[in-house]
Amino acid sequence: MDIFCIDGPVQVSGTIRVNGSKNASLPIMAAGILGAGRSVFKSLPFLSDISVFSELLGQLGCKVGREQNGDFFVDSSSIDNPFGDYDIVRRMRASVCILGPLLARCGRAEVSMPGGCAIGVRPINLHLRGLRELGAEINLKNGYIVAEAPRGLEGKEIFMGGAFGSTVLGTANILMAAVLAKGRTVIESAACEPEIVDLANCLNKMGAKIRGIGSPRLIIEGVQGLEPVEYGVIPDRIEAGTFMVAAAITGGELRIVNCRLNDMMAVVDKLRGAGVSVEPAENGCVVTRDGNVNNSDVNTLPYPGFPTDLQAQFMALLSLAKGNSVIIEKVFPDRFMHVAELNRMSANLRKEGSAVIVSGVDKLIAAPVMASDLRASAALVLAALAAEGTTVINRVYHIDRGYERIEERLNEVGARITRQSI
Ligand code: UD1
Repeated sequence: MDIFCIDGPVQVSGTIRVNGSKNASLPIMAAGILGAGRSVFKSLPFLSDISVFSELLGQLGCKVGREQNGDFFVDSSSIDNPFGDYDIVRRMRASVCILGPLLARCGRAEVSMPGGCAIGVRPINLHLRGLRELGAEINLKNGYIVAEAPRGLEGKEIFMGGAFGSTVLGTANILMAAVLAKGRTVIESAACEPEIVDLANCLNKMGAKIRGIGSPRLIIEGVQGLEPVEYGVIPDRIEAGTFMVAAAITGGELRIVNCRLNDMMAVVDKLRGAGVSVEPAENGCVVTRDGNVNNSDVNTLPYPGFPTDLQAQFMALLSLAKGNSVIIEKVFPDRFMHVAELNRMSANLRKEGSAVIVSGVDKLIAAPVMASDLRASAALVLAALAAEGTTVINRVYHIDRGYERIEERLNEVGARITRQSI
């Protein structure tokens, strides 16, 4: 198991490039199931989550791999095993987004129910309800979802909103099922996240007929079949936001390239409110902080609201603000595993239900801490850059799921992080 030893405080300054989006890549890889043949996807990051998903596609019968230039291919000419094994789904919940495309392509799918995870219970009731609305018969058997539609799926008007708003992977699943359904499907209260826009654009390039892309009302005219495709995924807005916080928390100056500010307006707004300068620059932006971090209140919300995937990183930043801040988690109300770890680093955080009251402190101090999930680990890395002393972060495999060689890339802009195997 690897650990990070991070010496602080440092200032991160220089130029850093954002990779392709993990959360766009996963459903787009699943879309490869729909276009029988060889699809090529560009800019997919080299991450353990991508490897796990490749393994899953391989088990279905697809041929998958990387070209010499790094492009990723999925050859779905033959899918002989529409089965998502527990052993893979338990490692990565996003595996559940093979359900929709498998059902559309094969008329049957058997996929393990994902369990809970460090950020909460994470039900999939909306995915299943949506597929049932399209005419699938769904039964749960021995921890597996058995979905069948031997005579195909039929378009329908479906409301996809739940207690916490729209669902990202639920929208992806229903969208990928609906593109091959007979007739028209309307998904009302669809997720509007840029990753869903990217998936819909990819599906349209494959021959799907989707309108309303980027809005909460997706209208899909079912087609007979989709073609394989060549498609490049968008940059990762969560990685970009993490780098923005790295510049902000260390008082550095970072030029972030391959970053679409238009997808990040809520994040930019909160950074500016906290006293951080974010200036548009060619293909990205420049982030600097000269003065104090100002206190600020943050509510996480579905897009275009502030993303839950940057909540932990902002908590690290606001720990060092002048004054008190309140962070309310409205997407995953239990997503606060990082609170106790940041407090070990001398932050002053108090959890009250789905809110955390952040009392700003003058400095963070290094401590041994434990990474609990992907974004919580990113928050610990950011806190460690600003903290006095050497922070040791255990279980960094969580961070490897979503950030490619994070230590090498941050070291190039002034961090002092070493990875050790223990
Ligand atoms: C995706 C992202 C994840 C991000 C999250 C919210 C990927 C691979 N993961 O996860 O990084 O944090 O969106 O932006 O893209 N819900 C239900 N019933 C359902 C489905 C969801 O009640 O059937 C609830 C969830 O518990 C949560 C909320 O809806 O409270 C949003 O979850 P959802 O958008 O589905 O998250 P994911 O798509 O799993």
